[in-house]
Amino acid sequence: MTVLKILTYPDPFLTRTAMPVETIDDEIQEIIENMADTMYKAPGVGLAAIQAGIDKRIIVYDPSADPVKREFSVVINPEIIGMEGETVSENEGCLSVPDYRSDVRRSRVVTIRGMDRSGNPVEFCAEDFPAVILQHEIDHLNGILFIERISMIKRNLYKSRIKKAIKKGELPI
Ligand code: NI
Repeated sequence: MTVLKILTYPDPFLTRTAMPVETIDDEIQEIIENMADTMYKAPGVGLAAIQAGIDKRIIVYDPSADPVKREFSVVINPEIIGMEGETVSENEGCLSVPDYRSDVRRSRVVTIRGMDRSGNPVEFCAEDFPAVILQHEIDHLNGILFIERISMIKRNLYKSRIKKAIKKGELPI
């Protein structure tokens, strides 16, 4: 089991647009397993490679977060090709934004296109919680944290709280 270090806000790596995966080889399989280990250990329901300092368009997720069953899904180079309806994701959180939660407006249904871990093209619809996770993780691959999707007042409050904590030496930079 390999648990990777999860980068946290305001690490600039989290704002980059991740690179597409060109070839699915053993290295990619290892990254996927390590990402799953890291997600279950955290624990979280999803992880984007960029959060572990890996500049690749890979996400893993498991709405059940059950480390024993370990039934996680993987999407490589995922794209949202359709969005429908609206929902409020209550108390959304992120492993890269520790100790902070907020309601976030999301689409209720999304259609995703990408590749599975064998390199086969996939296209599927997700609703509700899995749809929220997919939107959150795909945002990561585009350098967007969920705090960019909340009100400016809330976002600025959060950002100034972190700035103060860093000044006081309470957080790693
Ligand atoms: Ni996140």
